[in-house]
Amino acid sequence: MNIHIFDSQEKLNEAGARIIIGTVQMKQRAVLGLATGSTPTGIYEEIVREYNRGLVSFSKTTTFNLDEYVGLPIGHPESYRVYMQQHLFNFIDLPPDQIHIPNGSLEDTSVECKRYDERLAESGQIDLQLLGIGHNGHIGFNEPNHALLRETHTVTLREETRQANARYFKSMDDVPTQAITMGMGAIMKAKTIMLVVRGADKAEIVHKALTGLITTEIPASLLQTHPSLVVLMDAEAGRLFQS
Ligand code: F6R
Repeated sequence: MNIHIFDSQEKLNEAGARIIIGTVQMKQRAVLGLATGSTPTGIYEEIVREYNRGLVSFSKTTTFNLDEYVGLPIGHPESYRVYMQQHLFNFIDLPPDQIHIPNGSLEDTSVECKRYDERLAESGQIDLQLLGIGHNGHIGFNEPNHALLRETHTVTLREETRQANARYFKSMDDVPTQAITMGMGAIMKAKTIMLVVRGADKAEIVHKALTGLITTEIPASLLQTHPSLVVLMDAEAGRLFQS
């Protein structure tokens, strides 16, 4: 495990963008696993800046997003597809047919989960998986549980996850109760995982996940067993690693 703690958000964003861009430059047909939420936005901004400087092309890259809410219509402003368009995809040369995000608007999500795993299998291994971490230790929307699933699946979001994400919706009632998430199988199979953590409110969970017991009750703790894990944290999130 390679842990880097940064004294500014700018430096963290630059380092995160450099790792993603480096992966795309090194491999002709790189496969990226992408995340949403507040954690990666600065990294995506930095990637767009570098793209505009002509330093990278995504024309041969394939992407898989970790998750999507169930029940939001296509084009809903809080859907993760719209998030990805607004933060990254609208500004780079990634061909739309190389973008994969679960479709949470379908009646039968199990068919969509199966389809997603088939696309993942066809693309082979994810070269670089970007992850954030939830306050309860979730990765993707693999919520704490007595067992975790390998495959892409539909998950009922924990109350604390809905509350954490309520800031983006008009009211708590508007926050979806379910999501489709990539399972632990595809995440753990990634060649390299880059976990990004920001803010004092994540200090305890990230420390527990990376130094404590490996348990399905803290899904991110499984990352301890990954052979190529890079962790980028700001000073607040990394507080307990520095003492
Ligand atoms: C998002 C995702 C989630 C988030 C996590 C942290 O695609 O899979 O696991 O990474 O909930 O969210 P933020 O970054 O908003 O604190």
